[in-house]
Amino acid sequence: MKLLAAVSLLATAATASPVQKLFNLQTSGASNSSHNGLWLVSYHSAASGPLDSEPIFTKQAADAATFYLNNGTVRYDTPNQQNQAPWAIDLVTVQRGNGLKEPVRIGVHEDAGTKGFYINKDGLQGPSQTFGSWSICDNQLFFQNPQASDTTVPSNCDIVKLQAVYKTS
Ligand SMILES: *[C@@H]1O[C@H](CO)[C@@H](O)[C@H](O)[C@H]1NC(C)=O
Ligand SMILES: *[C@@H]1O[C@H](CO)[C@@H](O)[C@H](O)[C@H]1NC(C)=O
Repeated sequence: MKLLAAVSLLATAATASPVQKLFNLQTSGASNSSHNGLWLVSYHSAASGPLDSEPIFTKQAADAATFYLNNGTVRYDTPNQQNQAPWAIDLVTVQRGNGLKEPVRIGVHEDAGTKGFYINKDGLQGPSQTFGSWSICDNQLFFQNPQASDTTVPSNCDIVKLQAVYKTS
């Protein structure tokens, strides 16, 4: 009982602890090969809003953002020691016409963190009711809403997988 309590305390801690399996996210499976092998980074701009960052891609592995799963949410292990609040990935369903371009945010607001994420051989998966696939459009991460009527792939978008590449150190 004592051990169980200690383990669950660790698991709910806001910052990453040694029990968390840390990973980076890398694209694969795109039809346009220049969209493969890209690393997800968290980019905060004036347009993001104070409590949100945009998930964008880089070719530089050294810049890749580090994540871990916490009870079905994907937490961003921010390198900024002043800002260790629990940033987490949010799937934002807005259905703006095209179901393939639903926005993804890395947010730190009180209820941030969409639940129901898991990892399988095809990489990071969202909750099946609201998540169909990941997509990359103009170097930014979006997702496909399986309930949207229009699921055509816009010319500037590509469907991708997000593979979890576990960190060894
Ligand atoms: C592949 O993607 C790159 C970068 O987004 C783009 O510049 C290029 O035009 C695309 N190629 C094709 C054939 O769509
Ligand atoms: C984990 O998520 C489930 C389902 O959303 C929730 O009921 C439960 O309270 C969560 N547990 C913790 C420790 O946050």
